[in-house]
Order: sequence, then C-alpha cells, then structure tokens
Amino acid sequence: MIKKKIYSVINQKGGVGKTTTTINLGTAMAACDAKVLLIDMDPQGNLSTGLGVPPINRATGIYNILTSNKKIQDCLLKTEIPNLDLVTANDDLLGVEIELSSSDDRALRLKKALEGVNNYDFILLDCPPALNIITLNALAASDGALVPLQAEFYALEGLSQLLKTIKSISSTVNSRLKLSGVVLTMFDKRNNLSVQVEEDVRGYLGGDVFLTKIPRNIRLSEAPSHGLPALIYDHKCTGSKAYIDLAREFLKREGWKFK
Ligand SMILES: Nc1ncnc2c1ncn2[C@@H]1O[C@H](COP(=O)(O)OP(=O)(O)OP(=O)(O)O)[C@@H](O)[C@H]1O
Ligand SMILES: [Mg+2]
Repeated sequence: MIKKKIYSVINQKGGVGKTTTTINLGTAMAACDAKVLLIDMDPQGNLSTGLGVPPINRATGIYNILTSNKKIQDCLLKTEIPNLDLVTANDDLLGVEIELSSSDDRALRLKKALEGVNNYDFILLDCPPALNIITLNALAASDGALVPLQAEFYALEGLSQLLKTIKSISSTVNSRLKLSGVVLTMFDKRNNLSVQVEEDVRGYLGGDVFLTKIPRNIRLSEAPSHGLPALIYDHKCTGSKAYIDLAREFLKREGWKFK
C-alpha cells in the first residue's frame, strides 16, 4: 500500500495559476515516477479541459462523488501521461452547495471517498476561486494547502484571509491540515512590483514560500487550448522548466526517493 498525500491547490482569488500549477506540477511529479491523481473541483472544469477531456466525457466525476457517494475508482479517467489519472468536473457542481445543505457530513464527503483510495502517492485537488462547500471538502480531506500566489499588489491581503481559513480548519475539522507552501506564479522579474511582493511574502512566510518561482510564459497559457500539459506541449519552455524545478523541490521536501 502506498502512503498517499493529499493537497488542495487553493487560493480564493481567481486566475492566479491554480489549474496551471495542478496540471504541470502533477505532470512533472508523474515524470519523477510518482503515481498522481488530479481531481477537478471547479465547476468551470478547466483542469478537465486542460487535460483534453471534452465535456461529453465528463458525465461522471467529482459531482457524483460529493452528492451520491460514488466511489472515486468508478469516476477515474486515465490520461495520456503515464502515472497520471484524473477525476473530472462539470457544471452540475454549481448545484452542490444547495444539494448538500441539509446533510450533516457535507464537508466530509470527499475525505470519506478518498479513504478507500490507496494506489496514489499524491492527490492534487484543483479548487475553484472561492471559499465554499467545495473548497471546504478539499481542505477537510487534505494534508496540505498549496497556494499559488500571483505577485501583484493585493496578493498579500487575500493571502492572510486564506491563511486564517486554513488555521481555522486545522483547529476544527482537520488537524492534519498544514500550509505546505506558497508558490509565486506569473512572476516577471523586470517588474518592480513582482520583486517587491516576493520580498514581502518571503519576509512574512519565510521557508513556507517555495524557492522556485513560476515565470510568466506564453507557452503555459497556450498549452490548455491543445488539451495538453505545458510539459508535453513544449517541455523546453521556461514555464515547463520552472514546473519541473518546483516538482523536484516539492518532492524533496516530501522525502521522495528519486530513481
Ligand atoms: N505562468 C504563467 N504565465 C502565463 N500565463 C499563465 C501562467 N499561469 C497561468 N497562466 C494563464 O493565466 C490564466 C489563469 O490561470 P489558471 O487558470 O491556472 O488560474 P486559476 O487560479 O486556476 O483560475 P480560476 O481561479 O479561474 O480557477 C490562464 O489563462 C492561464 O493559461
Ligand atoms: Mg482554475
């Protein structure tokens, strides 16, 4: 049996690189021989799109797991990348808040579903840009929160709110939950503001900020329209290289034994 670790890729702010990080970090970890499951927790279904799954093939996914106790094993899709599987999302997920409103275990549905899943090293949950019942399910099931942070003016305000939420969940529903790291995304070293925000975030959180930064790179934004991780679309671009570095840094912290 493999000891799995579960991470919420989370930031309530929209468009900061959660999905891009989930896809490319997941792909890079799979390339290091880790068995990885990615779960799309967002009604927008960007993770599913980015991995080339058309809407017609998303009929059974995270919605069924959260609302009708369907088993993860019955909702899995293999991707074209070895060691990388996916659970998709579709817009049924928009109704989940109301559908679960009267059930006592509504925040623990995903945690329960993942208890029986033992064939992955890492499970990454691509959260929507909100703090709602979906993100609560993700945090309740996770060992760690992985926070992509776009280096811009309001980043720190949103971050302190998110850290408060993580603390409150770890002192109530899930004592395992920790901040596993903040990753700076869409970083532009020529922009003084990016550099200033990096200084502030590192000053505030120290070692909780990954040394690896993800640069702004057009190839990272082109890849999803081809239904491919950037690492497959163009493995030599600066964005792909940064995600490979991030995966190595992340896996090292996890004590991963590289072959
Ligand atoms: N490092 C990068 N360089 C250039 N473009 C990027 C980079 N990271 C992400 N993008 C682009 O920025 C947009 C937002 O990224 P992404 O979808 O990963 O963010 P998100 O946090 O998942 O968004 P949402 O909150 O809507 O789920 C996308 O168009 C993506 O392709
Ligand atoms: Mg997203």
